[in-house]
Amino acid sequence: MRTVDEITSNRRMRRNRRFEWTRRLVRENSLNSGDLVWPIFVTEGNGLREPVRLLPGVERFSVDEAAKAARDAYDLGIPAIATFPNIAQEKRNRTGSEILDPDGLINQVTRAIKDKVPELGIITDVALDPFTSDGHDGIVRDGVIVNDETVGQISNAAIIQAEAGADIISCSEMMDGRVGAIRDALNGAGFNDIGIMSYTAKYASAFYGPYREAIGTDQMLKGDKSTYFMDTANSDEALHEAALDINEGADILMVKPGMPYLDIIRRIKDEFSMPTFAYQISGEYAMIMAGAEKGFLNEERAIMESLTCFKRAGADAIFTYFAPRAAEILQRQS
Ligand code: PBG
Repeated sequence: MRTVDEITSNRRMRRNRRFEWTRRLVRENSLNSGDLVWPIFVTEGNGLREPVRLLPGVERFSVDEAAKAARDAYDLGIPAIATFPNIAQEKRNRTGSEILDPDGLINQVTRAIKDKVPELGIITDVALDPFTSDGHDGIVRDGVIVNDETVGQISNAAIIQAEAGADIISCSEMMDGRVGAIRDALNGAGFNDIGIMSYTAKYASAFYGPYREAIGTDQMLKGDKSTYFMDTANSDEALHEAALDINEGADILMVKPGMPYLDIIRRIKDEFSMPTFAYQISGEYAMIMAGAEKGFLNEERAIMESLTCFKRAGADAIFTYFAPRAAEILQRQS
């Protein structure tokens, strides 16, 4: 029998792990503030920062406060923010028509942020869930989320959001044909340079709960989203979705949720070499915060490890509610 020394005589993996400096030199991936997109929640009113109950440390901002927070994010080196509204219940209806109001909350926020921090990227979303009275991402007729009528509505919404100043339009509702329709609509309105970020592989996940409380759909959502979001057991289907979205003109692909779907990020990145983003969603944020609160894990280390793992999986950028926190930690470490 050989001794360990004989087995490892010319290959000991631990040599490169001996010192912090060697570990740094052989490190394959790193996170920097330029990889982060900060999703924020916005609400009506003035001077408001309301805590979100299920997302400790996350607040809903009124328009004025959102603009201040955007300035702070920009100063921390964060390239872009994504906005999600919590509008008054009485503005929500069956078709989510409030999304078409050029002076609606989301468009007000876009204008306020562009006015205060023009260099910061703004990504808006055309999904209807913050606007419908049943919390679904599309228009519901006789219990069915109708595809084509929804696509018509969100294409119009994309034009209105672009007019307000959004730089990238994202579509998180998983309707068929929406990327191509949004592209046509934007081009038709002269917005050829406005990008589309498609939520390409968005799964019917159990991890969205805290987000629904943040935008006020938790009480109203009837049924689940499994007739339009992807089955959580599927992987090949994500590549099929990606091929369609690229063909229809998507500029950026998104995988959502993030941590349970790192394999999907890697497959999409390897197959298409497209800009591929990941969304560390509300349930993932809440799990880390809850674990830290209970003393089960070290909060800061868990945050940074989780974000670096997205990079390792192949993500170019990460949507995360930890964005300002992570950017601060990175600043401190540098
Ligand atoms: C739906 C949408 C969801 C999220 C953002 N937009 C999922 C959903 O509620 O079904 C989730 C984000 C998160 O959980 O952080 N258009």
